[in-house]
Amino acid sequence: MIWHKQWIFGNWKMNGNQAENAALLQALRSVSNNNAHIGIAAPFPYLSQAVDLLKNSQIVIGSQDCSQFAEKGAYTGEVSATMIKDCGAKFVLIGHSERRTYFNEQNQILRKKIDNALACDLIPILCVGETLAQRQAGQETAVVGEQLAVLQGLSVNHIAVAYEPVWAIGTGEVATGEQIAAMHAFLHKEILSIMGENVTIRTLYGGSVNANNAAEILSIDKVNGALVGGASLKAEAFSAIIANAQTE
Ligand code: PGA
Repeated sequence: MIWHKQWIFGNWKMNGNQAENAALLQALRSVSNNNAHIGIAAPFPYLSQAVDLLKNSQIVIGSQDCSQFAEKGAYTGEVSATMIKDCGAKFVLIGHSERRTYFNEQNQILRKKIDNALACDLIPILCVGETLAQRQAGQETAVVGEQLAVLQGLSVNHIAVAYEPVWAIGTGEVATGEQIAAMHAFLHKEILSIMGENVTIRTLYGGSVNANNAAEILSIDKVNGALVGGASLKAEAFSAIIANAQTE
């Protein structure tokens, strides 16, 4: 049952090509850990390739975004949740900080994306997190609380959220154990209050997770997994992170 395991998810971002993907996935396809639910968010053009190469493995494939538009039609350049599902994907990242920064994605659009993912049975993983300036101003829970408000009125029994402080993404700077524990406790409390006491929650930490710090991060209370960028592009590092997933 995936909702009681630790989720170890890779986010390739705009990296890869057919040859590199094949080599990486070939090296990863035999990885297994019963305590882990393992996923990789691949670029759109490679979803089918990745799904094919991971058949009969423990790893599921997802995308890094989906369109806010639900129906097919005249939306040049867009990729619908239905198309992503049709490629064999199982989940979609929603509202990664790079999408919020470069594409100005905010709650109104993000909610449409979440609804579209759920409508075709893709698991949305909502990404939240504050910038350095916001943390320095003591606004981190206010900012994340506002980002979580996108979940209001959503009628689902399960929800996955990735907490990625923007200042820790791709910087090598990891949030401290206290900062991670405090924010994850806030996430659980806030999500239960928005969605009701019966919702099952997975909260993932993301931001410079690597083979050396994964064990410590994954042992923090209420950290239900990790979202891994740079280190998920290397088979050895990503396998080592997966090996650290624990039974809760
Ligand atoms: P990073 O990226 O592990 O390279 O910091 C994490 C993410 O943006 O998902």
